[in-house]
Amino acid sequence: MIPSVLPTYSRAPLHFVKGEGAWLIEEDGRRFLDLGSGIAVAALGHAHPTIVQALTDQAQKLWHVSNLYEIPQQQALADLLVEESFADTVFFTNSGTESMELGVKMARKYWYEKGDPDRIEIITFSGAFHGRSSAAIAAVGTEKMVKGFGPLLPGFKQVPWGDHEALKAAVTDRTAAILVEPVQGEGGINVLPDQCLKGLRDMCDETGALLMLDEIQCGMGRTGRLFAHEWAGISPDIVLSAKGIGGGFPLGAVLATEDAASGMKAGTHGSTYGGNPLGCAVGLAVVKALTEKGFLEEVRRKSALFRQKLEGLVAENPDVFEEVRGFGFMLGLKCKPVNADVVKAAYEELLITVPAADNVIRLLPALTLTEEEIAEAITRLDATAKRVAGDG
Ligand SMILES: Cc1ncc(COP(=O)(O)O)c(C=O)c1O
Repeated sequence: MIPSVLPTYSRAPLHFVKGEGAWLIEEDGRRFLDLGSGIAVAALGHAHPTIVQALTDQAQKLWHVSNLYEIPQQQALADLLVEESFADTVFFTNSGTESMELGVKMARKYWYEKGDPDRIEIITFSGAFHGRSSAAIAAVGTEKMVKGFGPLLPGFKQVPWGDHEALKAAVTDRTAAILVEPVQGEGGINVLPDQCLKGLRDMCDETGALLMLDEIQCGMGRTGRLFAHEWAGISPDIVLSAKGIGGGFPLGAVLATEDAASGMKAGTHGSTYGGNPLGCAVGLAVVKALTEKGFLEEVRRKSALFRQKLEGLVAENPDVFEEVRGFGFMLGLKCKPVNADVVKAAYEELLITVPAADNVIRLLPALTLTEEEIAEAITRLDATAKRVAGDG
């Protein structure tokens, strides 16, 4: 008999009932150190007092009104994001997938309004992940994602990650946008080097194609800057955001320049929930905390320390770990045994990690992780490695 919850996930038998910062408490009282944050969602950790306060204050006043009316919390969050980023304008969604959908629509409408309606192609990269909608799976195009779900939304062209020649050949006068994650998450923590992001910017400038970045996982402070592309010193046209921006509340955003957004006039897009008072009150508290003076400096300092200790862990456990990937608090350990077995062994050590492609386990802790918690994470990862290697 089919379970009452549609069985699309294979779940670990863990029942968390409470969260405190970087810790998750199981029903049976065990305290797990959470290096997953709900897959890069709980940017400020679980139950951070500032966002709990923002949520409860707003919940007592007004949860929801339609986007038919002015929403001051939405306005304030948009103003703050515009002030802190490349963007001139923001649309709020409820998830990364919805941000992706709008990104695709925005890029195509841009060219339609410019009188070039055939310019509809969007270039994506192997290893990418942009969500689970029909457009998002078509964008990725792997058999695992698309098999049985056709017909797919046309107009996506996948290029092998790091293959400059293939990319050059793929960009034509039908290219509406190039879509890339500055750091691939699901793909196994693959960092797009700064010079490649600069190269993509140059290519877009030469051809007119829009540079659209999926920062749903790597944005919102995760790499030690509000957005990961800031490291390369470039300015994109469209950025997709979600996950960390709501700190656990389902919130997403599409940020764009005035030019890139120029096709999106009244009536061209909408959402019932996207940008509602409750979500935006929380999002505002999150983004204010991330942009507070000194916060991202601390993320950079602590994450560099974590990475350095992870290098030591890999050197200590060469039969289990091959290398450390990523930067900031968007880190991965490439495993030698099957990564799912390492994730399972970590549960035994009361540690949460997240599997990714390419046999990697991801470490995406709360950005508030302390030095003591970093030391504890290393202790538990080391015990995990010993357990997997059979000498624990
Ligand atoms: C880079 C990236 N894009 C898009 C998505 C889809 O976001 P959501 O699951 O919120 O729809 C994810 C989620 O993992 C992601 O990591």
